Amino acid sequence: VIPAKPLYEGKAKSVYASENPDELIVVFRNDMTAFNGVKHDQFTDKGRLNATASEFFMKMLEAEGIPTHHIRMSAPDTMIVRRLEMIPLEVIVRNVAAGSMTKKYPVKEGMVLDRPVVTIDYKDDERGDPMINDDLIEVLHILTADELRKVKEMALHVNKVLTRFFDECGIRLVDFKLEFGKADGTIYLGDEISMDSMRLWDKKTGESFDKDVYRFDKGDVIAAYRNVLKRIIPDSGV
Ligand code: C5P
Repeated sequence: VIPAKPLYEGKAKSVYASENPDELIVVFRNDMTAFNGVKHDQFTDKGRLNATASEFFMKMLEAEGIPTHHIRMSAPDTMIVRRLEMIPLEVIVRNVAAGSMTKKYPVKEGMVLDRPVVTIDYKDDERGDPMINDDLIEVLHILTADELRKVKEMALHVNKVLTRFFDECGIRLVDFKLEFGKADGTIYLGDEISMDSMRLWDKKTGESFDKDVYRFDKGDVIAAYRNVLKRIIPDSGV
């Protein structure tokens, strides 16, 4: 039973209380936004496509020993998750230079980085999600040094698992964003892992299959998302 009013409404997901106080209900909506909400549209099936991808990756990561908030699906666009105290950081892993990295630093899009790099943004829409560093994360009491080490280690572990998997599907994992939260002293992977939060390029053609298609009007974003699902879960029937 989904309550009438959400506890929290994000740009693409709504979070509802569950009868179980340790759980939450996350509905992946059809809303698509970019540039901090400046661009906004709705696309049929978008919520379901991202929910399906997110469930698939959360299960894959659990099997690799990474704790995630995923518990089960209650509908194709609705995930029951463990209730977490969210950490207000966007933890980004980059394998190839793209997006904000090529705006901030003199590096060309597509340059393969010598090693995966973790960059962290402070999650705050009003401030435009500014980049933050380790010292600030500690003195602002967002995480202890130990917790931050753990978060980065988990992010790089996720990168290893996903990079290898996508490679086998003919896709290059350029970069992606993770969010984490805490419950009972354990750090869990929360939020979503979907085409909204990753950059995915066709290994052969370099074509984008992710939210950049929407951001930069590169074509049919739903066709691109469906293409990813067909490659990663051939029997998903999407
Ligand atoms: O914008 P930037 O290049 O820093 O984004 C890096 C990665 O993080 C991209 O895959 C992007 O889709 C994702 N991201 C996100 N949510 C944000 C910012 C970035 O999912 N608020």
